[in-house]
Amino acid sequence: MVTIKSKKEIELMREVCKIVALTYQELEQKIKPGMTTLELDQIAENKMRSLGAIPAEKGYDIGIRGVPPYPATLCVSINDEVIHGIPSKNKIIKEGDIVSIDTVALKNGFHGDAARTFIVGKASKEAERLIQVTKQAFFEGIKYAKAGNRIGDVCHAIGEYVHSQGYSVIREFQGHGIGKEMHEDPGIPNYGKAGRGIRLEPGMTLAVEPMVIQGKPNILELDDGWTIVTEDGSLSAHYENTILITEKEPEILTIL
Ligand code: MF3
Ligand code: CO
Repeated sequence: MVTIKSKKEIELMREVCKIVALTYQELEQKIKPGMTTLELDQIAENKMRSLGAIPAEKGYDIGIRGVPPYPATLCVSINDEVIHGIPSKNKIIKEGDIVSIDTVALKNGFHGDAARTFIVGKASKEAERLIQVTKQAFFEGIKYAKAGNRIGDVCHAIGEYVHSQGYSVIREFQGHGIGKEMHEDPGIPNYGKAGRGIRLEPGMTLAVEPMVIQGKPNILELDDGWTIVTEDGSLSAHYENTILITEKEPEILTIL
């Protein structure tokens, strides 16, 4: 079911999404070569809790037999890892790595979700372009995120832009509605046909999240049951914000 948020609920969405933005502000300042991904996780968890929110990914259960609940505040996915990399004291961030981080906060019963890809130190020009295109894909998509348009218009714009730049999108994971639940309807694939799917209405809150691969779109899941990597070993980037549909331009809730 697609939920329409009331004025009061939109205020609560703004509040929790701002906490996600502040968490990224802190991570961006602190991320350095030599750190472990678990150290980043602790920084984020402390920041969120200090602002009165709960890390919603921690303990999140996708309900598949044999897959343990997600153990951390952040997903930290380095280089060829696409999404859902699990923070670890054994994973050290190196100069030149591209580090995709995805996190969800929960406060007053509402969720805020965003992802960023950081370059640590100096990365290759190709890595920089991948990150830039992934971010731009979000903005290309949300040009169509207006009341009266259809969700397929957003999906189509993302996919077309990414492909025009010579990159791929993954097909197995997608953006989503968000609110009282982390994942609500509609699903928002990073490809699709314009003119299809639900009609957008003011008060919908959506997590739009291009997950882009430099090479072929094929992915593999590691034995931990979570980490998704590119099959061909090429780099991947992720960029996500929670947005609010209005009569005019969408409001981006997870940017300060
Ligand atoms: N934050 C992810 C998303 O963008 C969900 C991650 S799954 C979790 O939808 F288990 F880590 F929470
Ligand atoms: Co999301």
